[in-house]
Amino acid sequence: MSCPLTAVSAAFDPLDLQNPFPLLQQVRAEEPVFYNDDIDYWVVTRYDDIKAIFHDHDTFTAANTITPIVPFSDDVKTMLQAGNYTPVPVLSNNVPPGHTRIRKLVNRLFLPRRMRDFAPAIRQLARRRLASFIQQGETDIVAALTYEFPALVLFHVLGVPDEAVARVKAWAGNRIELYYGRPTPAEQVERTQNLVPFWHYVVALVQRKLANPADDLTSDLIRMRNGDDAVLTINEIASCMITLLVAGHETTTSQMGNSLLHLLQNRAKWEQLCATPNLIPQAVEEMLRYDPSVCTWRRFVARPTVINGVDIPAGANLLLMLNSANRDETIFPQPDEIVFDRPNVKDHLAFGYGIHYCVGSPLARLEMEVLLEEMTRHLPSLRLLPGQQVKYTRNISFRGPVSLRLAWDEREIGD
Ligand code: HEM
Repeated sequence: MSCPLTAVSAAFDPLDLQNPFPLLQQVRAEEPVFYNDDIDYWVVTRYDDIKAIFHDHDTFTAANTITPIVPFSDDVKTMLQAGNYTPVPVLSNNVPPGHTRIRKLVNRLFLPRRMRDFAPAIRQLARRRLASFIQQGETDIVAALTYEFPALVLFHVLGVPDEAVARVKAWAGNRIELYYGRPTPAEQVERTQNLVPFWHYVVALVQRKLANPADDLTSDLIRMRNGDDAVLTINEIASCMITLLVAGHETTTSQMGNSLLHLLQNRAKWEQLCATPNLIPQAVEEMLRYDPSVCTWRRFVARPTVINGVDIPAGANLLLMLNSANRDETIFPQPDEIVFDRPNVKDHLAFGYGIHYCVGSPLARLEMEVLLEEMTRHLPSLRLLPGQQVKYTRNISFRGPVSLRLAWDEREIGD
């Protein structure tokens, strides 16, 4: 076999999320499937290939979606064992039939109509947070709003106390760096030291809900279990909770940052939303297409296969470029333009596709819509502060601005 390394794979840095789009455009045209030796993954960039991979979950399993890019050292493995760190695959990196059993239960928690019951509380929270800084006239919107807001929404629905928000945000960020970044051996040890207390926090939370069930989704999961390990074990419930306490806010924090950045960079689009708020649901979808916060996702190749004419061996790992699929010009004409009324905007792959399709998407859509409604209403003069360089954390999958400085003319928020 000839060496699979090419000029494209040499130019591609899977952890550099600063501006991946120009290279991806070239790759889609010239070499849509290529091998990257940096992380030992095959990279897939075209929409049709990625959708077919998501669809065929027997050939392409999700077993590697929470596998660290830098394998855990023996020290780290010992620390996890000593720290009684026992999460098991439940959703993201699970496979049927276990995934099917658990997913059926978790689906019932996040039904769109159920999420709509939370809308008034989400709106109230958005208004309270906006009111807390609106007098300032300018701020870093990530620090002031989008960093904590999705976590507070999630805590409300899951029944997690607000006082934990700073810790859970830090723990979740730490977990992303450990699994999706490239930590040095010393950083890997330090991040593992932070991971173990996160797990213990989640286990204690589940124990509290077992003793005192309440009107929240964590308690609902416990009620569905009904004391039967064949339905769901306590360890599986805790594993679901730690998954949700990462996936349920880091993603939305970044997506809100991406959306605000692009809408304000293309300010006519922002003005269009202020004038016509009923476009907001379409705008949310178009922003998910244009710059998805989960910019890549992974699959494991269970048997030898061929992707777009390229032979892929069993045991290979795939990096699926969702940000490239969403700008595939054969599916989305003029992909680099923001167009709210694309007829097929909802065909984007920002939430994946198939059996693992994002279970929290109804909540994510709702909170992003509510936030944009409140911001366009109360801060129509919102604008980017000039001269800032937007930065992204180095990792393979989660893209969102670390900070975003905005200014506006002061307004009052009424009731
Ligand atoms: C804008 C925000 C979000 C984005 C872009 C996003 C994106 C994704 C993607 C790409 C996947 C992988 C799908 C696949 O493998 O086919 C996924 C799965 C998942 N997401 Fe989200 N997500 C978001 C918000 C949320 C929220 C709010 C929650 C929870 C409340 C959540 C929970 C999950 C879970 C548990 C899975 C695994 C589902 C499974 O494997 O069955 N996500 N998400």
